Amino acid sequence: MKIKAKHLVFLFFMYFLAFIALVAVPGGWAADTDHCLMCHGDAGMVGEALYVDGDKFAATRHGDMGCVACHEDAGYEHPDDGMALAAVNCNDCHFDVEKEYNAGIHAGLASCNDCHEPHSVRGPTEVSGYDMNLMCIGCHSVSRMVDSHNRWLPQAGLHIEAVPCITCHTDSEEVVITWYLVKQKQAYGDFVLMSNEELQEVAGERSITELVDRDGDGHVSLAELRAFNTAREFRGLHLVGMMTPEQVSHNFQVLDNRWDCTFCHASGPEAMQVSYLAFPRGDGSFKRLDVERGAALDALYGTPNFYMVGATRNKTMDILGAMIIAGGLVLPVGHGTMRFFTRKNRQGGH
Ligand code: HEC
Ligand code: HEC
Ligand code: HEC
Ligand code: HEC
Ligand code: HEC
Ligand code: HEC
Ligand code: HEC
Repeated sequence: MKIKAKHLVFLFFMYFLAFIALVAVPGGWAADTDHCLMCHGDAGMVGEALYVDGDKFAATRHGDMGCVACHEDAGYEHPDDGMALAAVNCNDCHFDVEKEYNAGIHAGLASCNDCHEPHSVRGPTEVSGYDMNLMCIGCHSVSRMVDSHNRWLPQAGLHIEAVPCITCHTDSEEVVITWYLVKQKQAYGDFVLMSNEELQEVAGERSITELVDRDGDGHVSLAELRAFNTAREFRGLHLVGMMTPEQVSHNFQVLDNRWDCTFCHASGPEAMQVSYLAFPRGDGSFKRLDVERGAALDALYGTPNFYMVGATRNKTMDILGAMIIAGGLVLPVGHGTMRFFTRKNRQGGH
């Protein structure tokens, strides 16, 4: 084939374009994550407010994307040009979440990074229920929430400690029980989660999972739970359970079936069979081990700090529980229906 002049012109034009691209769009190739972290990974250099923990970031699902996937306009000239970088738009990639979120009552009231720390995001199975609640209570104070929920929900304080807000306020319906190691102290409830460091101190030479999983097989049996709960060496430690969602939907709303106590206080073989024990990692995220099916029902020795009224193996306790719920229902149903019918008015009045 003979090379014609117009081919040459075309080739030259393409080289020219490639050259322009290299010079004018430095973000993609020169300014990579390590480069950013040379400054932002060093608090002494940029100050606390601009510090980003590179190890935490690398361990997230965003780690591989690198900084510039979100901070698209951080190029060569940054920070010398003194130009502020554009706000990051999570929706470039998470459009499904955005769509769902915008269909809920929260749209426009809180942005993605009001709840998520963008440099250390984790999925719901690696974030504690406790931390999920911390995402809400900066705007919805616990004391106000306990007061308002107490009007229809007995022991609202206990519920808020045991059920993260999102379990009731989004339609994430697949919930499990997750156990956390805690010590007694005041935070917003009467317990605080043990950190990785604190547990490592107790565990000494052992790995922290072996505090409960004694045989180290990666599963927690009912026998191991019982042994943990009765061991003298762990007297300061407790296990508390929370009902956490496996996946999180973002359509924040007030859902009618969450008035229904039996949504959670169910009985029968399917009730509360699946549970996990979550151990804190050094970076604040959690790693779960699975727990023998049905362990959550052994309220006597297996899980003494968790009692799901209506779902235990103990008949007397269940009958008692059923009575509490039935008794409690009289008020919530009557009250609830009334509030439901007047909801429009209430919203107008706010
Ligand atoms: C030479 C050190 C240095 C490097 C390298 C650097 N930054 Fe910065 N960055 C700074 C400083 C200093 C500021 C504060 C600038 C200001 O206040 O004008 C800043 C501010 C920022 C901000 C927040 C404020 C704003 O301008 O919107 C972001 C986001 C940011 N940098 C991201 C990055 C990313 C992403 C990279 C890598 C592509 C990077 N930086 C590389 C020093 C650096
Ligand atoms: C998933 C998207 C995403 C990635 C990836 C990302 N950031 Fe950010 N970053 C954000 C968001 C969102 C903010 C909040 C301000 C905004 O909207 O620009 C932010 C803020 C910042 C700030 C300002 C201080 C702060 O913490 O609010 C700095 C500095 C920064 N990022 C640096 C980095 C560096 C360095 C990397 C890579 C190690 C990185 N970012 C990766 C989304 C991201
Ligand atoms: C450049 C694309 C991109 C952007 C922009 C982006 N993400 Fe992601 N994000 C991903 C990918 C890919 C995953 C992993 C797959 C998935 O869960 O969809 C992910 C996962 C997540 C997860 C779950 C983490 C896990 O371990 O399961 C959260 C939470 C998250 N992103 C929040 C955010 C937030 C908040 C922002 C805005 C600050 C953001 N993302 C911006 C691509 C992005
Ligand atoms: C009102 C608080 C709140 C807001 C606002 C919010 N999220 Fe979330 N999101 C959560 C909670 C709580 C979880 C579960 C714990 C976790 O993974 O951090 C979660 C989980 C996620 C996950 C993982 C979902 C899964 O099932 O694996 C992604 C992805 C995500 N959020 C993206 C976003 C994006 C994008 C936005 C903005 C459109 C957003 N979030 C706004 C509270 C919020
Ligand atoms: C950045 C602030 C902010 C954060 C964070 C936040 N919210 Fe909200 N939320 C609001 C505002 C503002 C409203 C509307 C006014 C009101 O009802 O308090 C609202 C309304 C609501 C409503 C509807 C109330 C009604 O009257 O119908 C629910 C339910 C709700 N939020 C749940 C949550 C949950 C669950 C979380 C955490 C996962 C959360 N919010 C985190 C600001 C926030
Ligand atoms: C057991 C399920 C459940 C839990 C847990 C729960 N809520 Fe609610 N919440 C509801 C229901 C049902 C309503 C509707 C009650 C009404 O309209 O009076 C409601 C009402 C609300 C409202 C509107 C009325 C008000 O009090 O302002 C807000 C805001 C709210 N919840 C936020 C939260 C937050 C934040 C948390 C966690 C700290 C939380 N909820 C925990 C079920 C729950
Ligand atoms: C979203 C799930 C959920 C819903 C809905 C729910 N609960 Fe609960 N409830 C729990 C959990 C989890 C616990 C705490 C178990 C523990 O930590 O001991 C609990 C505890 C209780 C307790 C206290 C038991 C004790 O140890 O003192 C009572 C009473 C109770 N619930 C009644 C109700 C009633 C009545 C309703 C309906 C108005 C209701 N619950 C709705 C999940 C739920």
